[in-house]
Amino acid sequence: MEKKVSRKLEIRNTRLEIRDTGSEIRDTRSEIRDTRSEIRDVKPSFVFRISNLVFLISDVCGLMSIALYNGRLMEQDAEHLDTKMVRTRVSPSGHREHASSIYMTSSFMFDNAEQARAAFAREIDSYIYTRYANPNVSEFVEKMCLLEGAEAGVAVASGMSAVFSAMAALLNSGDHILAARSVFGSTHQLLTNVFPRWGISHTYGDLHNTAAWEELVQPNTRLCVVESPSNPALDLIDLAWLGRFCRQREIILLVDNVFATPILQTPLHLGAHLVMHSVTKFVDGQGRGIGGILVGEKHLIDEVANFTRHTGPSLSPFNAWMFSKSLETLPLRIERHCDNAERVAEFLFDHPQVKTVKYPHHPSHPQYELAKKQMCRGGALVTFEITGGLDQGRRFLDSMKMMSLTPNLGDSRTTVTHPASTTHSSLSEEARHAVGITPGLIRISVGLEHVDDIIADLKHALEGSIEG
Ligand SMILES: Cc1ncc(COP(=O)(O)O)c(C=O)c1O
Repeated sequence: MEKKVSRKLEIRNTRLEIRDTGSEIRDTRSEIRDTRSEIRDVKPSFVFRISNLVFLISDVCGLMSIALYNGRLMEQDAEHLDTKMVRTRVSPSGHREHASSIYMTSSFMFDNAEQARAAFAREIDSYIYTRYANPNVSEFVEKMCLLEGAEAGVAVASGMSAVFSAMAALLNSGDHILAARSVFGSTHQLLTNVFPRWGISHTYGDLHNTAAWEELVQPNTRLCVVESPSNPALDLIDLAWLGRFCRQREIILLVDNVFATPILQTPLHLGAHLVMHSVTKFVDGQGRGIGGILVGEKHLIDEVANFTRHTGPSLSPFNAWMFSKSLETLPLRIERHCDNAERVAEFLFDHPQVKTVKYPHHPSHPQYELAKKQMCRGGALVTFEITGGLDQGRRFLDSMKMMSLTPNLGDSRTTVTHPASTTHSSLSEEARHAVGITPGLIRISVGLEHVDDIIADLKHALEGSIEG
């Protein structure tokens, strides 16, 4: 399993070569940017010598060149995405700090009036104001683009603000959205309560009946939004098929890739135009902060970035710094999440109190072949249905000793939810049924604890859930 993850990373890495060698963690100092572009054009073996030269010059010229050496060479030398996740960073300040500094500043200074004018006119690439851009946010966006294989990205304050900003920036009154029926609850709220007020309509498509989707497309369908795997039912959609479907009809395909993460699945390589993440989940991975990102084709991201620049759902530099740091360990964490989730799924399959188990990479999953094709491992989410329905489900939750009863997922701690009585309680039973949420369904986001301890707690809670 370990091999699979790294093989996939290498493939994606090759595809990203051009973008990566030209990568720009923006620097306001034009001298540095110019030198970077000279170096970018030479062959790798020569680059190293030139970089050494730059380092020598830095002794003479001072800290600015040291910043160039450290910031740029680290990116160019790395062949593997894992390394890039650890090494990509904004250039150090004069203090030569090893970890990236946190740029907790609302605005940036100009040397003179002409520079200020040129910056606002976008004639020079310069930080101006943190609502527009910030070095920590740029570092984070750059790394997420590398992982997803995206041309560009925009980071925002939450996963929902990424979905909202994409739709609000790209759609006009009179447009229509084609959405998978099983989308995240707040996305459902946007579609049913917010956008209709602005004349934007939607139609839901069933993930199990994509043959019918052709008839759901309207002349004004401009955007399609799906999650794969879906929350919480873990249903999939064939993203390569959907990519072709949307491109043939000039529909923008937006994929919520929260459950799979870019380590397991990269929808842009399968035809999606845009990918969103609630970075609150696996990207942070430790349940500390809320954030979101949208990555994808540059011409679309530019429109969304212009929208967020003026409407203001900016990501805080501190959160961006924290999420960027977390990306250093994302590949490792996802491997361990998957190892543990596979063991948990196997345990549940054999338990007499468990009626059904769903895990994308288990042969019993109805879309197992598709899961193998488009996800390199099965992820951290496992769902199961307890034999005694709602009441036994509640007793199970009350019997847990270690696992956390909390709605978040993607945390290093194993978290458990009962969707029918919590996150999806506002839906009618019929609507829940349509998206695979049965009364006894329990969702586990398998964490990074020792798997034997997770299984011991599951065993204990399942025994405790038996009535009398
Ligand atoms: C699949 C999915 N998409 C989107 C979101 C929304 O993200 P956020 O809570 O960061 O706004 C969530 C949050 O749980 C989610 O699970």
